[in-house]
Amino acid sequence: MQQVNGEAPKESSEALRSSETENENGGGKLDIEIREMSLDDLSSVFALGERIFTPDLWPTLYRTWDEYEVVDLFASDGEFCFVADAEDTVIGFALGTLIEKRKSSWTYGHVVWLGVDPAYQGYGIAKRLLDRLTEALIEEGARMMLVDTDPDNTAAMRFFKREGFGKAVDHVYMSKNLTNTDQYRRRKREARD
Ligand SMILES: CC(C)(COP(=O)(O)OP(=O)(O)OC[C@H]1O[C@@H](n2cnc3c(N)ncnc32)[C@H](O)[C@@H]1OP(=O)(O)O)[C@@H](O)C(=O)NCCC(=O)NCCS
Repeated sequence: MQQVNGEAPKESSEALRSSETENENGGGKLDIEIREMSLDDLSSVFALGERIFTPDLWPTLYRTWDEYEVVDLFASDGEFCFVADAEDTVIGFALGTLIEKRKSSWTYGHVVWLGVDPAYQGYGIAKRLLDRLTEALIEEGARMMLVDTDPDNTAAMRFFKREGFGKAVDHVYMSKNLTNTDQYRRRKREARD
């Protein structure tokens, strides 16, 4: 069985590359299946995300990867959660959601988290995950897809551009230290009493 921990050995990377082609023709040594995420996948997806979503990818940390993020999305949007499964090992995932705006006829699909095990990147797995998620979102009425990522995350920027995402809009994230507010101090005092 293919090992996913650490760097994939060169020969297994090559096997994967060729097996993907072979798989498309119904054969191949390593089956990579894109399937709906199940309850049993929760811990694997969380653990894989912990390895992928490192602070250098999200320097501002306006979004954080934690177990609640996975559990909440799976509970609320399970039909938009997919995993890439290589012989019973989760090697990638796409977690999305549908956004319906009031007073707007547009329904948006949001790619909330997309990640592939570093040992398996560059083999089209993210594309397959994104295609499957897109299909599910269109099925539920999405007319536009949204994704956000840090501009320094060149791999993701290149990937999404190639997949047809454009119109990058700059966001400015501002912060305020809440520990200086009366509400925060009051809450602290109450917690102490
Ligand atoms: C962004 C990310 C999801 C892309 O995953 P991936 O599986 O490597 O993506 P793909 O394989 O579909 O495409 C990536 C590259 O592989 C190449 N590729 C795809 N299929 C290939 C194949 N069969 N053989 C060789 N190369 C291939 C693509 O041309 C592309 O190359 P390029 O980006 O240099 O032009 C991955 O880098 C990742 O997990 N990053 C960290 C998390 C992240 O930033 N997520 C996005 C925001 S939530």
